[in-house]
Amino acid sequence: MTDLLIRDLAQVATPAGAAGPLRGPGLRGVVVIEDAYILCRDGRVESVGRMGELTSDLAGGIQEIDGRGLCAIPGLVDCHTHACFAGDRVNEFSLRAGGASYEELHAAGGGILSTVRATRAAEEEELTRITVRHRGWMRAHGTTTFEGKSGYGLDRDTELSQLRAVRAAGGVPTWLGAHTVPPEFDGADAYVDFLLAEVLPQAATIAEAADVFLERGSFDAAQSRRYLRACAEAGLALRLHGDQFTESGAIELAVELEARSVDHLEATGLEGVAILAASDVTGVLLPASALFLGRPMPPARALADAGGLIALATDFNPGSAFCDSLPFVLSLACTQLHLAPEEALVAATANAAHVLDRSGSIGRLRAGFAADIVLLEAPDWRHVAYHLAGDVVHTVIEGGAVVFRRTAYSV
Ligand code: NIG
Ligand code: FE
Repeated sequence: MTDLLIRDLAQVATPAGAAGPLRGPGLRGVVVIEDAYILCRDGRVESVGRMGELTSDLAGGIQEIDGRGLCAIPGLVDCHTHACFAGDRVNEFSLRAGGASYEELHAAGGGILSTVRATRAAEEEELTRITVRHRGWMRAHGTTTFEGKSGYGLDRDTELSQLRAVRAAGGVPTWLGAHTVPPEFDGADAYVDFLLAEVLPQAATIAEAADVFLERGSFDAAQSRRYLRACAEAGLALRLHGDQFTESGAIELAVELEARSVDHLEATGLEGVAILAASDVTGVLLPASALFLGRPMPPARALADAGGLIALATDFNPGSAFCDSLPFVLSLACTQLHLAPEEALVAATANAAHVLDRSGSIGRLRAGFAADIVLLEAPDWRHVAYHLAGDVVHTVIEGGAVVFRRTAYSV
């Protein structure tokens, strides 16, 4: 593997600390090195420092990138996506734009179930091809690690195909069998019985975590508890979609079961904030989804101020957030969630890596970590959030190899 030296960078910005998530006042802990270099060997960062500290006796054969005018941040970590799906929901988007609500469309058999129909009709090879294409979209915005959920199969074979497709596309698979109840089942209890007996044994061999949509019209707290407990016994980490539309006990259940995360939280009130902030469960905030559905933003500032663990993600999916850009999510975090750019960066790197149980290997630019690096075309790293929907990502490096470079504009 070619070694790589990125030299003369305007700035390197990285979450503070050696590993693990940051919270409370520590959430603003971003270390900035000016006039900097990053040296990578064998796919890992070997050293990061000021240009003046770069030893001159580097052996030959090193690929060099001229970092003048660029800033480096860690590869972004998208810890909540539904990137494996067939078809689209542009018609539904048009109906919503004309006034229909997401929940009404869902209740009428549209919404998630319309993507289920399209995804069931696709072969696994096709699902893999689509997920690889979506990974390319995310990569072009600086995402170097993504999580991808199933949940558009809701039958054994398609759920397992989705999980394998996410893995084949290089993602971290999460089993969202309990996304919603498919039409062939008479109620959520019978569907959970089926999931645990027929799908979990194999899903647990492919996925790293299990997820449930705890919401009116999908699964209640008792059904979610039964599903998640069985998943934990099968060795899966636990995640929940909770408080998206109503407070239905997701935070309490996440804390009780020591889940990795509870995600969405647009409907969370002050009591929920206090309970979550006092726990080690990460609140994953998805402001692009709130924006896309015209919903209230989650109480991110209150959670952060109360010392809660937070992460940011896109929720990339065809219905509630057709958005593959974490830099756009960082802009929303700063303008709508009232997070500082430092807090937003940490939430989409070190803390998102923690949600995926990888905070010792990705999410920071430090010796020994994966050489996953985003070069921003900007004089200050905070442009990643400041440049609203801007083409700020210049180059993306994964494991020490350039995987994306933006074509220069010609004038
Ligand atoms: O995170 N809320 C449930 N699931 C997804 C949306 C899935 C869809 O609409 O297709 C979400 O918003
Ligand atoms: Fe989601």
